[in-house]
Amino acid sequence: MHAVLLDKAHHAIKEKLPERGNDHRLGFHLSPPVGWMNDPNGLVYFRGEYHVFYQHHPYSPQWGPMHWGHAKSHDLVHWEHLPIALAPSDPYDRDGCFSGSAVVVDDTLYLIYTGHVWLGSPRDDNHIQQVQCLASSTDGITFTKHGVIIDAPPEPEIMHFRDPKVWKRGEQWWMALGARKGDDPQLLIYRSVDLYHWEYLSCALQGVRESDGYMWECPDLFELDGSDVFLYSPQGLKPSGYANWNKFQNSYRLGKLDDSGHFNPNAALHELDHGHDFYAAQTLLAPDGRRLLWAWMDMWDCPMPSQAQHWCGALSLPRELSLEGDRLRMRPARELTALRKSQHGLQIPVVESASRPLDVRGALLEIEIELDLAGSTAEHFGLALRCSEDQHERTLLYFDAMARRLVLDRQHSGAGVSGVRSVPISPEQTRIALRIFLDRSSIEVFVDDGAYTMTSRIYPRPDSLGISAFAVNGTGVFGDLEAWELTDLKI
Ligand code: FRU
Repeated sequence: MHAVLLDKAHHAIKEKLPERGNDHRLGFHLSPPVGWMNDPNGLVYFRGEYHVFYQHHPYSPQWGPMHWGHAKSHDLVHWEHLPIALAPSDPYDRDGCFSGSAVVVDDTLYLIYTGHVWLGSPRDDNHIQQVQCLASSTDGITFTKHGVIIDAPPEPEIMHFRDPKVWKRGEQWWMALGARKGDDPQLLIYRSVDLYHWEYLSCALQGVRESDGYMWECPDLFELDGSDVFLYSPQGLKPSGYANWNKFQNSYRLGKLDDSGHFNPNAALHELDHGHDFYAAQTLLAPDGRRLLWAWMDMWDCPMPSQAQHWCGALSLPRELSLEGDRLRMRPARELTALRKSQHGLQIPVVESASRPLDVRGALLEIEIELDLAGSTAEHFGLALRCSEDQHERTLLYFDAMARRLVLDRQHSGAGVSGVRSVPISPEQTRIALRIFLDRSSIEVFVDDGAYTMTSRIYPRPDSLGISAFAVNGTGVFGDLEAWELTDLKI
């Protein structure tokens, strides 16, 4: 049955491909050939290559019964799409192969995922069954399902129970699961010696609805620079000040995971990225010891204009994680400099209460520039990106001197999207260093060498390619701008 359903899905993709529209198609980000994509799944390094799986609905650009899409890369830059790895074919995963992770044992690749079943009507979240499942592959392409490995939650009040992240701790396999007990979120830990037989170890962390949300999706737990990081996607947090304005968040806490499976936080909860579109991030450990992270570069229940062109969803660029105090820093994976083609260097004269078009254009660009706060008097100053000739379309990235924040404004970023996000700039800071990646329908901003990041989807027209430097009410002083056109890999 599994093989039949995989064939059917491949057939559907092949049929739809010629109809796909490419106006917003990303040049160097992973997105599905057609259909829908959400979470990154099963990130793993296997036989010299990086494998990335993802939540995929091949039959339409809407969320539906989840498959696992699959792609691989030898260098984190060039990606090859592979056949779909998992389809919902069995009674225990009938309505979806939900998110999960991957590990390698003795040259065999194992996928651990959640089997999802609607017990009532489809989409009725109050009547579901979730179990944890195992599949394996010896060639890294074709997967054999081994069925259910955890058939019920540890307590009857738990129904939502998903997104297994498995890793090796000492001689044993550990699994972290996100769960919802009543209306409170939990992080659960299981243990196994062989990946097939699991024992429940502990509730590693218990939250309460009021302050912690109602569910922690897509947990990841890993060691980084001497600390343990609990990375997860809380649902149900309320906006507070500048925080938590997306429908759901992607956050982390630092602490210590002890041998009895308890996670003891020793720092506050932080949002991982500060843009509009960043969710369900997962990591892998690269062979050289780097902790690499990908996220779904979209958000639930947001406009997705590319659906009209038969595809939607993308993954962020891979990022290298490090720890600075109690904050994670994210830098673009160093391999990504291989995307650079022609380089433009520009000096930007002081801009005074004006907008000055720059001699660089493009949809696929990397830009490095510093904003000189000390020398500027403007209320706002920064860059307008992906500008149309008439300037009606534009995505703004600027320093707001009154609020002392760096702002990403997509009120005029093209089809569908809107809204403003920002990060704080400390009173002592005299300059802001920006590294910006623009793809046809995305912007990723790395602020001050990854101390903050802002990731958002934008949908400008294909011919909105201009860039301006602007300053409002006063002078804006810019450092030299360096820009690289980036390779259109048509992934
Ligand atoms: C997160 C999530 C996961 C689930 C998957 C279903 O975005 O809701 O918890 O496994 O998506 O597609």
